[in-house]
Amino acid sequence: MRVVFKSKLKRYYPVMITALVVLTVLIAFLAFLEINLRRRREALVELTGMYVKGGELVLLPFPKLEGEVSVEEAIASRRSIRSYQDQPLSLEQLSQLLWAAQGITYPRRGFRAAPSAGALYPLEVYVVVGHRGVQGLEAGVYHYIPQAHALELIKKGDFRKDLCRACLGQPWVENAPISIVIVAIYERTTSVYGERGIRYIHIEVGHVGQNIYLQAVSLGLGTVAVGAFHDEEVMKVIGCSEVEKPLYVMPVGWPKVTYKPTLEELVEYFEKHREELKR
Ligand SMILES: Cc1cc2nc3c(=O)[nH]c(=O)nc-3n(C[C@H](O)[C@H](O)[C@H](O)COP(=O)(O)O)c2cc1C
Repeated sequence: MRVVFKSKLKRYYPVMITALVVLTVLIAFLAFLEINLRRRREALVELTGMYVKGGELVLLPFPKLEGEVSVEEAIASRRSIRSYQDQPLSLEQLSQLLWAAQGITYPRRGFRAAPSAGALYPLEVYVVVGHRGVQGLEAGVYHYIPQAHALELIKKGDFRKDLCRACLGQPWVENAPISIVIVAIYERTTSVYGERGIRYIHIEVGHVGQNIYLQAVSLGLGTVAVGAFHDEEVMKVIGCSEVEKPLYVMPVGWPKVTYKPTLEELVEYFEKHREELKR
C-alpha cells in the first residue's frame, strides 16, 4: 500500500518541483519589484527635497505678502518689456520676484507660489546678475533655494553677454540688469507620471512665468519670456547639471516705457468686435 502511494507521489515530483521553482521565481520577482519601488521612492524624496549645490549663501530679505497693485491692474498692464533703464534692482525686488516664481506659500506642506502636478516641483530657478544689476549683490550666477528663501552662488562674474549669445543675440538679455533662468529636472515628474509628466512640466513653467510677469508689473518692473535659445549654451552659462534643462530665460529691469490700458480703449475694442458679430 505504502509502495503504491510512494510511486503515485513520485509521478507528481516534476509538477511539484516546477511549482516550487515558479513560486521561488515569483517571490524573487516580487521582492525585486518591492526593492526597486522603495529605491525609486527614496530617490524621489531626494529629488524633491531641498536642492542645494553647496555655493556661498546669500540670505534674501523676506518677501512681502501685500502690495499696492491689484491683480486686475497687474494683468491689464502686463506687457513683454524689452527696453530697460540703466538702473539696478533692489535686493527686495529680487527677493519678491523669486518668491513669486517658486517661493514657499504653504509652509506646513512646503507648497509653492505656482501650482505643480503632484507637488513634485520639477523646476529650479537661477539668476544671472549683471555688474551693478542688484544693489548689494555681486555680479554672478545664483541658484534659488525656496525652502530657505536664499540664493547660493554658482559662479562670480557678469555673464549677461554670454547669456545673450546663448539666446540668439536677443539684446534685452544683455541689457537687463538680471535674467531669471528657469530649468526643469524632468525625472522628478516623469518618474511618477511617465510621458505625461513632460506636458505637466511645460504647463508649470507657464504658471511660473506668469507669476514673474505679474510680480514684475506690481514692482514697477518689466520682463519678457524668452524661449528662443540654445539649451546647451544656456546650461553652460548658468553652470547647471546635465539633468537640468532650461525652459525660460526672463530678463527683468526698469522699463523705459510702461503700459496701462484705459477701460475706454477696451470698451471701444469690444464694441467694435460686437458690431462685427452682428454683421
Ligand atoms: C513660449 C514663449 C516664448 C517666447 N519667446 C520669446 C523670445 O524668445 N523672445 C522674445 O522677445 N519674446 C518671446 N516671447 C514673448 C512673446 O513675443 C510675447 O508674449 C508676444 O509678443 C505678446 O506680447 P505680450 O507678452 O506683451 O502680450 C515668448 C513668449 C512665449 C509664451
